[in-house]
Amino acid sequence: MSICRLGILIVVGGLAAVPAWAAGALAPTESPWMDPSLSPDQRADRLNSALTTEERLTLVHGLMPLPAFHSVPIPADAQPSAGYVPGIPRLGIPAIRETDAGLGVAYVGGLRHDGATPMPSTLALASSWDPHLAYQDGTVIGQEAWRKGFNVLLAGGVNLARDPRNGRNFEYLGEDPLLAGTLDGEVIRGVQDQHVVSTIKHYAVNDQETGRTLLNAKIGEAALRESDLLAFELAIEDGHPGAVMCSYNRVNGPYACENKHLLQDILKTDWRYPGWVMSDWGAVHSVESALAGLDQESGEQLDGQIFFGSPLKTAVASNRDYANRLKDMTRRILRSLFAVGVFDHPPVESEPDFRADGDVAETVAEHGMVLLSNPRGLLPLSKSLKRIAVIGGHSDVGVLSGGGSSQVAPVGGPALSIPIGSEYLWDLDFVRAMYHPSSPFRAIKAMVPQAEVHYEGGSYPSAAAALARRSDVALVFVTKWMGESRDTPDLTLPDGQDALVEAVAAANPNTVVILETGGPTLMPWRNKVAAVLEAWYPGGRGGPAIAKVLFGDAEPSGRLPVSFPAQATDLARPVLPGSDGQSEHPFDVEYREGADVGYRWFAANGVKPLYPFGYGLSYTAFSLHDLRAEGGKTVTLTVSVTNTGKRIGSDVVEAYVTGGPMSSKRRLIGWQRVDGLNPGDTRTVSLTADPRLLADWDDTAHAWTVRAGTFQVSVGASSEDDALSQPVTMAAATLRP
Ligand code: BGC
Repeated sequence: MSICRLGILIVVGGLAAVPAWAAGALAPTESPWMDPSLSPDQRADRLNSALTTEERLTLVHGLMPLPAFHSVPIPADAQPSAGYVPGIPRLGIPAIRETDAGLGVAYVGGLRHDGATPMPSTLALASSWDPHLAYQDGTVIGQEAWRKGFNVLLAGGVNLARDPRNGRNFEYLGEDPLLAGTLDGEVIRGVQDQHVVSTIKHYAVNDQETGRTLLNAKIGEAALRESDLLAFELAIEDGHPGAVMCSYNRVNGPYACENKHLLQDILKTDWRYPGWVMSDWGAVHSVESALAGLDQESGEQLDGQIFFGSPLKTAVASNRDYANRLKDMTRRILRSLFAVGVFDHPPVESEPDFRADGDVAETVAEHGMVLLSNPRGLLPLSKSLKRIAVIGGHSDVGVLSGGGSSQVAPVGGPALSIPIGSEYLWDLDFVRAMYHPSSPFRAIKAMVPQAEVHYEGGSYPSAAAALARRSDVALVFVTKWMGESRDTPDLTLPDGQDALVEAVAAANPNTVVILETGGPTLMPWRNKVAAVLEAWYPGGRGGPAIAKVLFGDAEPSGRLPVSFPAQATDLARPVLPGSDGQSEHPFDVEYREGADVGYRWFAANGVKPLYPFGYGLSYTAFSLHDLRAEGGKTVTLTVSVTNTGKRIGSDVVEAYVTGGPMSSKRRLIGWQRVDGLNPGDTRTVSLTADPRLLADWDDTAHAWTVRAGTFQVSVGASSEDDALSQPVTMAAATLRP
């Protein structure tokens, strides 16, 4: 039941916060911070000055309200989720209710049974190269979080895919700071427009899971600013996330959550970030973290002690620096809550519109699918096929999802949940390979009702080959589970799936492989199959999305947001650091590639990847022409794209600098997705580069420096395709952060 008073929704009998003034504790005139004509800063200042020290201390630490952690009582108004910070009823400050994460409202290891829309992996979203879709994706997860009573979503993961074996790459947006930062900013904007604070995480350089709490990421200042930090910087500028989550690892010495350089010097000073820094769960090691710039301790029962409880109280009582810091900490929290509308639009429990949200999930899955090979044009499949073999990947029941805190389960739960075999963590579904109940097999059957469609599990390659032999086409689904807290040891497909593909391909030349992976994988069989489609973890509507793309009702318009290496020895670190067992002890990871992550590393070393960053085929063909680029203060360009094929299609026009006086050999400087281009039609796109992409970070000058000179600008269909190039002359420039 809800009534509306003073423009504020008050929910009775639900989880939504009841503002104290509305409940009678405080008259509106006594809560001047509720005047919506004031800025978030003014409102935060007013409310902050009304807080007692005791109240301030309440706001700066919170627990993980999970029955699995019996050591602490779970507050009555908390629900199973990642985080909870009690409110201050006297002043109408709502409890902070935090949920994971970037792919929808999380399942919390199976403790939540209310169901949510599982969005495709954010890596799939990144493959769409579509900022508008990223915004929509954010609105879905933000809206569902709000309707479930949450006011903070632990979304916004933007760590760069420095290593294709990183178990969480599926939760991030690829290897390029411009692509990842732009799309992340849009997701965050979408979330926060639903009056739910979004985090951006994991700040910073939490670029592998192996030894994530022990490793020290070693990287030079310029390299850091030009890569991982640039992704954060761009996303923060666009999305204005209310909170930044600092990560588990150390960065050049100190832990990220007590890293004054990262938190104070860069985030809060150089970038003038006004929100709050919350820790990752179990990432706080000292009360001094407060002085380094940490504002809130999350999941406190996971830390050695509740540092922002009694130790902070003692420090505040005796040390003015801590007392001042505490005021700033709460001010930052309140400012973000006001800025995002948490006070004015508290969550109201209500049923999400799962159908509409599922439609967005399906669009993301379709737009993110990347056609890797199709030399004979077998795809799209003909709907008049008579016998179709569907093989492997549990595609009879569903599609794979990635594991860990971001795991979402739809209404009714997963179709299949397979324990991965791990001693790690607790006895929840954290380390299980879960399949969303959206079966490609059933969707394919529905797509071609007149055809005989048979399924074979794939455990026995000989049985799969036998089915393939008596079919017109064989569709082989191969999966690779990835999840938080563990990386994959290598780039191979697990469980003998390479042998399965080989056997099927030998039995039927019309073999199509559909990959459901959390990142790049090797494909020793790729020249023996007729087509390869990367579907990533395609979310709760993955089944129909895959069927539509296979049969041409939708087009595979995704482009790779990560390079697919040909072999692990081509990587900057052929062996994953810490994978030799040293992850029991602190160890360094030398990011010797610096800012040359992914395709830039390959370009710098003259190495050909299996499939390059930015690559993806279409069911039609495009040609680029009439490039006109100009230099000066930045690069601006126009270029036209024509659909030269026979079907309507969508392209992504990518622009790179491919030479010049900057430190990297190649950098993406802009792109535009061109949707729904009819055969013969031409569209002209205009791009303007962010000058930081033409600059190098100069630590002595403490600025971005563009060196005067000639820069080569190229446009093409991937980081390896300089279809058109033109030199431009740039003027020298110094850009302060
Ligand atoms: C993860 C975060 C997550 C948090 C709360 C941590 O282990 O690294 O991404 O938001 O748990 O579940």
